[in-house]
Amino acid sequence: MHDLHGWHNAGTGKADLYRDLAHGLAGLLANEDDTVANLANAASFIYHELPSLNWAGFYILRDSTLVLGPFQGRPACVRIPVGKGVCGAAAVNRVAVLVPDVHDFPGHIACDIASRSELVVPLIRDGVLLGVLDLDSPLPARFDAADQAGCESLAAVIVRGLGNRPV
Ligand code: SME
Repeated sequence: MHDLHGWHNAGTGKADLYRDLAHGLAGLLANEDDTVANLANAASFIYHELPSLNWAGFYILRDSTLVLGPFQGRPACVRIPVGKGVCGAAAVNRVAVLVPDVHDFPGHIACDIASRSELVVPLIRDGVLLGVLDLDSPLPARFDAADQAGCESLAAVIVRGLGNRPV
């Protein structure tokens, strides 16, 4: 179990937590080369290890559309055009998008009305966009810069876990 007290400390507590999570996630993905299995376990791991999430999972790039991949949480929108919503913004700009209040993000796609804040991190392999990692929380401002940095490190672990195989 993680020290929930430490979780609420700014910066260092989260940095330590994400370092542990990156290590655990790398181990979880290490001995499997099936893409769906690895994305499914990564979604479950993140959903259960990070507090206060109501959705964690992947959208995979198919042509110009992000298509729902393995996830944990309520059923979600299946197809998101690149450029639409928070996921589409992260995909088109190839940078993480942190949204403290989804009501303030024009074009936010509400898959679950309980979601109040969101963090989306692109999955990029050798300069090629594979898809995005999407995290939702029912708490406003659930994610901060330390979460963004931490989830970017988790996304890097996931990309490494996919190897050179097609996604
Ligand atoms: N809110 C996202 C859509 C995906 S769901 O949150 C799972 C968006 O605006 O892109």
